[in-house]
Order: sequence, then structure tokens, then C-alpha cells
Amino acid sequence: MTALKLENVNKSFGDVHVLKDINLTVDEGEFVVFVGPSGCGKSTLLRVIAGLEDASTGTVKIGDEVVNAVPPAKRGIAMVFQSYALYPHLTVKDNMGLGLKQEGQPKSVIEERVAKASKMLDLDDYLARRPSELSGGQRQRVAIGRAIVRDPKLFLFDEPLSNLDAALRMNTRVEIAALHRTLSASMIYVTHDQTEAMTLADKIVVLRDGYVEQVGSPMELYNNPANRFVASFLGSPSMNFLEHSVPGLAKGQTIGIRPEHLTLDKNGPISGKVTHVERLGGDTNLLVETDQGEALTVRLFGQNETQVGANVSLGFNAELAFYFNDANERVYDKAA
Ligand SMILES: Nc1ncnc2c1ncn2[C@@H]1O[C@H](COP(=O)(O)OP(=O)(O)OP(=O)(O)O)[C@@H](O)[C@H]1O
Ligand SMILES: [Mg+2]
Repeated sequence: MTALKLENVNKSFGDVHVLKDINLTVDEGEFVVFVGPSGCGKSTLLRVIAGLEDASTGTVKIGDEVVNAVPPAKRGIAMVFQSYALYPHLTVKDNMGLGLKQEGQPKSVIEERVAKASKMLDLDDYLARRPSELSGGQRQRVAIGRAIVRDPKLFLFDEPLSNLDAALRMNTRVEIAALHRTLSASMIYVTHDQTEAMTLADKIVVLRDGYVEQVGSPMELYNNPANRFVASFLGSPSMNFLEHSVPGLAKGQTIGIRPEHLTLDKNGPISGKVTHVERLGGDTNLLVETDQGEALTVRLFGQNETQVGANVSLGFNAELAFYFNDANERVYDKAA
């Protein structure tokens, strides 16, 4: 079953065209991540799905129903925002139950659903507290709890982790993935963080400037990016793009090599000087300036003794390299 279908959705604010011909399907139970740089239209697209903005043209379907004219509260969705948007004067318990209360649900139902969500999110010890008495991560869990109690068909998350520090972000990311498994609900999750996209998604939608650039599973996009934008956006450190440093490239052609596909190899075709070394313990990143003046990153597994200033030769597996033309499109024939 299809949870959501967007057909030729466009959105303009006055004469600013923000969403451009979006076509997209979310299957039931699927975890879909919208990823792209700031300003590309992720939040706007989520708000159009939620009904907080109207589509200028096109159709939004939830399940089998066209919902363009259906108000947000009647769409069977729940949204979690980056800002949490909790009521400061209400306790955790009342914040979580408020939506149900406003729907006119009986007290017993509210109690039962809040208790279930609180247990799932490990919030039992905090139910009597107010939001100001919670950490950022706990507040975010309350905001998620408020969505869960409504038992929506579709969850919408807009950058829910961006106010958290790195360690907590990772924990909460794992919790959200576990929650998705438990609830088996459809989820759409917006982020500009490629790690969140790669680790959470069944399906990633890469947006750029209001267009969908590519849709696919994380590994499909990683292994088979359709263009240079997708290739550079997914993967950390980012893919290297070289125009002059690898012999045999056609004019106007760029080769893309992921940092982990480069190796120190005294017979390798690329040579340069190490300008910086990042020792991460498990990995070592070498920043290299090639003899042709291009910068690249080499990701070596484990610890490595190479020092700044060293002259290095680098090899790579040509089968794992990508080629792009001067319009930044992928070319599949190296000689093309
Ligand atoms: N109400 C509005 N009126 C006019 N322009 C708007 C409005 N809302 C958003 N925009 C514009 O639409 C574009 C997309 O905004 P949106 O908030 O969807 O981006 P985003 O991808 O969520 O970015 P971020 O990662 O920074 O949150 C931006 O250029 C923004 O300025
Ligand atoms: Mg946004």
C-alpha cells in the first residue's frame, strides 16, 4: 500500500518558485529521508504534506485520499519540529496528552496512550516535570511522544536532532530507528545531515534548489549517484573530484574517487604532497595537494605514520571511480 503520493507538486511564494514538479511515493511502513542543502525546499515540502502550506499546483494523496483540501488535523499525520514546540507551563504528561485532549478523546484513552509512549521513550521518571526542567534530548523525546500518542498513519520529522550535541544525536538517531521498527509506521524525516540520511533511510530523496535530484536506497545513491551533486553530497569525507591529476581523462571530464578508494601506492598514477593529517584513531585522513595543484582526501583504515610534507603516490581502483562531464552529469563511458 502507498502511504503518500505526490504528483507534480509545485509551490511558489509570490513569484519565488520553491518546489518544482515533485513526484514521489512513500510506501506503507517506509522510512523516507529528504536531504539537501539549506534552502532547497525540504521544510516547505514537509509543510505541504502536512497541510500547513497549500500546494500551488499538483496533488497530495495520503493513502487513497486526495488531501489537498483536507486540514492538517484531519490528515492522520503527526509532525515533530526541530524547535520541539512544547508548552512551557504544562507537564511532560500534559504536553504529550494535549493533542488527544483537543481531539476530545476520553481521559482513559489519553492515560493509556501517554503511558505507552512514555514507556517506549523512557520518559516515565519525567512525567511530572515541565519542559524547562528537562535536557534537550529529553525535550525532544517528549516532542516525539506527543506525535506517537496520536497514532498517526504518517510521521513527519523536520530536523528533530539539530539542537542536540553530537553524542546525543547519535543516541537519538538509534532510538528513532528502533521506534520505526516498533511502530512500523511510515515516516518522513528531513535533514541536511548526510549521516542521518544514510543511517536512517529506507529511501533517500536528494533535493536541490526545489528539484528532486535522485531517489534511492542509501547504498544505491552511494554506489550509483546520478550526478556530481549527489556524489558529493553523500559520503563523509566527500568524494574527490579531479580534472587534471589523473592521466588519460578526456577534456572537460572529471573523475570522482571516494577517499576510501585511494591507497598509498608507489606505482600509483597520482602524486602529490601531504598538507595535513587527521588521526582519528580508527582511521587516518590525509589531505594531499597533487602535483597539478588539486586538493584531495585519502581515507586510510587504521593508524598510519605518514607525516605532513611527505611526497606520496596514490593509486585507486578504476572500477570504483566515477566520471562526470562539464555539465556535472555522470558519464558511464570513460572515453566519452
Ligand atoms: N513563507 C515564505 N515566503 C517566501 N519564501 C519562503 C517562505 N518559506 C520558505 N521560503 C523560501 O523557500 C526556500 C526553501 O525554504 P525551506 O525552508 O523549505 O528550506 P529548507 O530546505 O528546509 O532549508 P533549511 O535546511 O535551512 O531548513 C527558501 O529559499 C526560503 O527562503
Ligand atoms: Mg528546513
